[in-house]
Amino acid sequence: MRESLRLMGARVYRIGRATRPAEPTVRQWPMVSIDVHSARKGDAATLSRLSRRLVEAGLEPAWTEARIERCRQREDSRVLVARAGAGIVGGALIDFEDEATHLGLLVVDTAWQRRGVGRRLMDAVHDASRAAGLPRITLEVRIGNDSGQRFYAALGYTPAGIIPRYYGPGEDALRFERILPAAELSRW
Ligand SMILES: CC(C)(COP(=O)(O)OP(=O)(O)OC[C@H]1O[C@@H](n2cnc3c(N)ncnc32)[C@H](O)[C@@H]1OP(=O)(O)O)[C@@H](O)C(=O)NCCC(=O)NCCS
Repeated sequence: MRESLRLMGARVYRIGRATRPAEPTVRQWPMVSIDVHSARKGDAATLSRLSRRLVEAGLEPAWTEARIERCRQREDSRVLVARAGAGIVGGALIDFEDEATHLGLLVVDTAWQRRGVGRRLMDAVHDASRAAGLPRITLEVRIGNDSGQRFYAALGYTPAGIIPRYYGPGEDALRFERILPAAELSRW
């Protein structure tokens, strides 16, 4: 297990489209390299800020800098960040449980959403789960987070029930899960 939890090497993804003269109706992004890798010391503060603003708005903050930093140092957790140039534009946090990988946090900064960063982070989550021998991935989304739910559905996750008051009084969660196909697992 210890061996399988070794950190992944950094992956560099080139996302977006090259800027070129075209119809003004076409959404264009400059060509940018996104580097998804394990979080470094000091990254927890940025991830915690992103979580408070984009995931935990209106809730008692659960993903404090100290908690994320503790996860970064644990062998049964993994904290990933997506970096564009010098800045962190998103991140993910997973725990390796007995029978599944649990995604505790996934966030992409507002200006970087719908540019493939979330998908890249989830690719890295899936890679880590395969490496840990855990094909099942579970996660919770706030019941009112339609865009988050559409994102997970687009990645093949299916709803697996409602968890009442998961985020506190009046804040239910929708649980999603996905089992990575055996064909994908056999490559590892
Ligand atoms: C949900 C989130 C992580 C998605 O990250 P992202 O980088 O914007 O997503 P991607 O660009 O990789 O999208 C991949 C696919 O998911 C689907 N998708 C993503 N956002 C969507 C939205 N708002 N509505 C519908 N479908 C969406 C699309 O099919 C998309 O592919 P496409 O852009 O080619 O159509 C990001 O929007 C975010 O951080 N939101 C705020 C926090 C949050 O909701 N976190 C997750 C729940 S805890």
